[in-house]
Amino acid sequence: MTEMTGGPALPQERRVVTSVPGPKSQELMARKQASVADGIGTVMPVFAKRAGGGVLEDVDGNSFIDFGSGIAVTGVGNSAEAVVRRATAQLEAFTHTCVMVTPYEPYVEVCEELAKLTPGDHAKKSALFNSGAEAVENAVKIARTYTRRQAIVVFDHGYHGRTNLTMALTSKNMPYKHGFGPFAPEVYRVPVAYPYRWLTGPENCAEEAAAQAIDQISKQVGADNVAAILIEPVLGEGGFIEPAKGFLPRIAQFAKDNGIVFVADEIQSGFCRTGQWFACEDENIVPDLITTAKGIAGGMPLAAVTGRAEIMDAAHSGGLGGTYGGNPVACAAALGAIETMREMDLAARARRVEEIMKPRLQKLAGQYDVIGDVRGRGAMLAIELVKPGGKEPDPQVTAALAKACHQDGLLVLTTGTYGNVMRFLPPLVIDEALLTEGLDVLENALAGL
Ligand SMILES: Cc1ncc(COP(=O)(O)O)c(C=O)c1O
Repeated sequence: MTEMTGGPALPQERRVVTSVPGPKSQELMARKQASVADGIGTVMPVFAKRAGGGVLEDVDGNSFIDFGSGIAVTGVGNSAEAVVRRATAQLEAFTHTCVMVTPYEPYVEVCEELAKLTPGDHAKKSALFNSGAEAVENAVKIARTYTRRQAIVVFDHGYHGRTNLTMALTSKNMPYKHGFGPFAPEVYRVPVAYPYRWLTGPENCAEEAAAQAIDQISKQVGADNVAAILIEPVLGEGGFIEPAKGFLPRIAQFAKDNGIVFVADEIQSGFCRTGQWFACEDENIVPDLITTAKGIAGGMPLAAVTGRAEIMDAAHSGGLGGTYGGNPVACAAALGAIETMREMDLAARARRVEEIMKPRLQKLAGQYDVIGDVRGRGAMLAIELVKPGGKEPDPQVTAALAKACHQDGLLVLTTGTYGNVMRFLPPLVIDEALLTEGLDVLENALAGL
């Protein structure tokens, strides 16, 4: 089967024709090592040539089943038809004016769409930026100016980016923060309801974690000093942790009761990834502000803060922005991505991915003791790998499993505070046959450990 994305007739197939990495990738890697800073790491050492639908083709002619989507970005597939069509038309019309100099319609249209798509029927406004971290930084600016308070509360295992403020907001030291301090002040971290690793077991996890978090905020920070509580409804880089049911509503209610801006960071979980437009819909959470990026624009750099109009308007005119934020080509791409998500009902496709993948992963967990937990929802699924017989994280086996998958034509990513989570983020448009074949590759790799 072929797919008209990623260039003409990109075959939707797994094909391994060289060792991985192949000779051309190795040559390019030598050039990368000579000219690109070592800090820019590589998950799978092959160089991309084309990508589309559910595959990524490398410069040696290998075709990988894509279970990564460029870290949850290309939900609509690479070079999706509507993204290319709209972005191309915009490229031909104009590439940049700077919205703060001369505004343009696609920026406004994206903000109108965000008001419709995000949870809640209150009046909403948005501001657009280039990256997820920039959106999070701006959500903090907005919450601080609205509340006239300074403290920001984040959670264990949270990830919010790599800029100075967002490093402070991020939990994991290596590789994100190590050696890069000092970090921004007035950031406080509290427990999150991580069912698999909650010491007294998953049953009381939501209640106990919420009580601890609220106690720490109240006693150590003072609720009336807190500008914002910031949380990912499904924690991404922390290990695809779904907070135990009941935890998020409890924290959201605490925020509401104390005049704190509740911010949902949906940069990884948003735009149909978890089977709904946004993951916080799962527990009927209506955040005051929501940060989005990644899946919003089919691979073009765009990010947003969307929220209650009165909060969004708290920043004075000229207080928000940036030269490129909401670039017209990225906005046109976002309109193409949103059109694709709507027309193909990609939220339903994400639920279908879960239907196919999760039972199979659960079956593998029954067969292989190294799989300690299977979790996630929609097309945001993961397995947590541990030393058999307990819950000790096993990052080595996780890395070995990822490498074996890569060598057999399956692009997978690892994640997690302990580096022991393999995550699955296929494009939502992937063929079902490729999904199944990808799982076969995973199963073979597990058998060969
Ligand atoms: C939840 C979350 N927030 C923020 C970010 C930072 O986004 P960016 O890498 O676009 O700056 C990420 C990126 O992985 C993320 O997953």
